[in-house]
Amino acid sequence: MSVVDEVKARVDVAELVGESVALRKSGRTFKALCPFHAEKTPSFIVDPSRQTWRCFGACSEGGDVFSWVMKRQGVEFREALRILAERTGVQLAPMDAQAEERQKRLGRLRSVNEAAARFYRRSLADAEAEEARGYLERRGVPDEVAEQFGLGYAPAAPDALRGYLSARGYSAEEIATAGLSVEGEGPARDRFRGRLIFPIRDPQGRCVGFGARALDDSDVKYLNTPQTPLFDKSSLLYGLDRARDDIRRADHVIVVEGYMDVIAAHQHEQTHVVASMGTALTERQVALIKPLTRKILLALDADAAGAAATVRGIDTAREAVGTEPRPVVTARGLVRMQNTLAADIRIIELPPDRDPDDLIRLDPERWSALVREAPGYLDYRFRRGREAHDLEDPRARSVLMGELLPLVAATSDPVVRAEYMQRLAQMCRIDVDTLRRRASIAEVPPHLRASPGPAAGPKPADAPPPRRRLTSIDRHAETLIGLLQHSPAAAAEVDAAVAGFVPDALRRELLRSLLAGEAAESREADVEALAAELRPRHDAPSLLAQPRVVARQISDKICDLHKREDARTHTRLVADHQREIGARPLHDAAYDLAGEGSDGAPDDESSPAAQVLESHARGRALHAPAGVATPDPATHPSAGTNGATTGATNGEAPS
Ligand code: UTP
Ligand code: MN
Repeated sequence: MSVVDEVKARVDVAELVGESVALRKSGRTFKALCPFHAEKTPSFIVDPSRQTWRCFGACSEGGDVFSWVMKRQGVEFREALRILAERTGVQLAPMDAQAEERQKRLGRLRSVNEAAARFYRRSLADAEAEEARGYLERRGVPDEVAEQFGLGYAPAAPDALRGYLSARGYSAEEIATAGLSVEGEGPARDRFRGRLIFPIRDPQGRCVGFGARALDDSDVKYLNTPQTPLFDKSSLLYGLDRARDDIRRADHVIVVEGYMDVIAAHQHEQTHVVASMGTALTERQVALIKPLTRKILLALDADAAGAAATVRGIDTAREAVGTEPRPVVTARGLVRMQNTLAADIRIIELPPDRDPDDLIRLDPERWSALVREAPGYLDYRFRRGREAHDLEDPRARSVLMGELLPLVAATSDPVVRAEYMQRLAQMCRIDVDTLRRRASIAEVPPHLRASPGPAAGPKPADAPPPRRRLTSIDRHAETLIGLLQHSPAAAAEVDAAVAGFVPDALRRELLRSLLAGEAAESREADVEALAAELRPRHDAPSLLAQPRVVARQISDKICDLHKREDARTHTRLVADHQREIGARPLHDAAYDLAGEGSDGAPDDESSPAAQVLESHARGRALHAPAGVATPDPATHPSAGTNGATTGATNGEAPS
C-alpha cells in the first residue's frame, strides 16, 4: 500500500470534516451547510462509505481527505499529506538529513515568532502601553478588532522581548535570525521598541514577521522585520490568511497598501481586502492571489498611481495572471490552447491625501463608488495619458504613443486590441494603419509579450500581434526549412507531427508545406517570402553534406523539445482544472467518464475524459515530490503510467 493510501485508510473523512463543520447525519451520509459558500439549505455532503465530501450547491467543490486539508488550510498536496500522516502516525519517507535540519530550524523560527507575537499582544495591556491603546482608540480600532489581528505593543526597554524569549529557551542566535533583535556598536537590543505591533502572517496564518508603527510622527513610521528565512515582504500579502475564503466568494480581491487600510476594511465587512505593504505588487504576491481569483482591484493613491514603479507592478500583475494558456473550445468542438488575458485588473484611484483607511471610515459611500466604478487598466492608462500630456504638442503625442502602444499591442484579445488601436490612433492623430505597422515593429518588452500558444489558430486579420521572440523550436524549424529547400528528399526522415509543434504560425505553415512536398507557387506570399529569407541562411556545407542525417536529428530534437513544453502545458492545465473542480474529484470524475476497459485503462484515448486523465497523470508526475509514493496504480490507474521520466527530477517542473 502506498503512503497516500495508507494515510487515507486511517483518516475518517466524517471525523476530519466534522472537526470544523457541524455535520448532521442523513441516511448513510452527513449533511451540512457548505463551508465554502454562503447558503441557507445544506448542500454539502460527506459520504463515509466513499470517504468523500462534496458541495452539490453553488461551488461544487469536493474531494477526499487530502483535498479537504488542501482547501481548508490552503496548502499544497505535499503539506496536506504531511499533516494527515502526522495525525495518523504514518511514517513518511525520511527526508535527507540536511532537509530535516532545515525544517527543524524553520520550525524553531516559527515558534519564536509566535512567542514574540504573544508577548507583544500581552504587553498591550501593560500600564506602559497606555499611549498605544489611546492611539488605537483615536484611529477607531476597537479591542475586538485588535484581538482579531493580534495587534500588540513592543515595550520601550531594549531587552524586554529578549528577556521574555530567552526565559523560554530561545537562543540569542535564534532571536537574531528571526529579525527580532539588532546588533549595533554595543550589545544586541530588541529591534522594535515603543511601537505598535502588527503581526504579519503567511497564507496559512502562521506569524512570520512584524510591522511596527511609531506612535508619534518624529520617528521612522514603520519598522518591519528584515528578510529572514521565513519572512520576505515581497512574497506575502498582509491579511490574506483572513481574506482567503472571502476573496474566493467575492471572486475579486482589493489590494491596498497599508496595514491600517486592511484593518479598516475588515472592520467594515470588506473582508476580501489585503495589503501589499507599501510596495508595487510583485509576481509572487500575484501568485498567491491567482488560485483564488483573476480579478484584482488595486487601490492606488493619487501620486503613486502615475509612478513608474506602480506601473511596472501592474504590468507584472497582468503578466503573472494573464498570459496563461487556457483551453478553449473552437467552433469545430476541438479543444485548443489559447493565451487569453485572464487577468482583470482595475484601478481604484484614491483622491489626493486620502487612503482607504480614511475613506472607509469617513466616507464609505465614496469608497464603494470608487470600487464599483473602478476603470479597467487600459482605460485608466488612457485617461492618465490624456491628462499628463499636452495633446496639442506633436512631440508629447509621440511620447504618449510610445507609452501606450506596447500595452495595446500586448492585449491578446483581437477585438479589444482593435478598439484601443482606434482610440490611440485618434488620440495621437495618426492613421490607424500606420499605428498598426508601428505596433508590429515596436519593441514590446518581453514581459508584455502575449505569444499565441503552440496550437493557436491563424493570426486574426485585424492587427498584427506584437513581434515576439522565436522559441528554440522555431529556430530548429528554420534550419529544417532551409535544409528541406536544398534537399527535399530529406523530408522522409522527419516525423510527420513535427510541423504541428512549431509555435510560430508562418514557420509552421512553411514547414508543413515543405514536408507535404507542395510547390512553392501554391504557398501564400508571406510564407514564400519567409522561405526565400531562410534559404540562403541554412546552406552551410556541413548541413548539406548529410541532409537526411541532419534532418532526422533536428526532427528528434524538435519532438524532444515539444514533449517538454507539452508536459509544462499539462501542468498548467491540471492546475486550472484543480482550481475549478478540486484535485481528486477531477481525477475520479474523469476516470468514471472514460470508462474502465478490461486492461484498466480508459477505452478511448481521444475522449476528453481520457485527455484529462492524461493531463492529470503527467501533471502529477511533474509534481510528485521525490521520496513520496504516488497513488497506487490499482486505485488510480492513470497514475500508474507516469514514469519518473517526465522531468520532476531534472528541474523542468515549472513553479
Ligand atoms: P502608509 O504610509 O500608507 O501607511 O504606508 P499606513 O499603513 O496608511 O499607516 P498609517 O495610516 O499612517 O498609520 C503603507 C504601507 O507601507 C509600508 C507599511 O506596510 C504600510 O502599511 N511602510 C510604510 C513601511 O513598511 N515603512 C514605512 O516607513 C512606511
Ligand atoms: Mn494610512
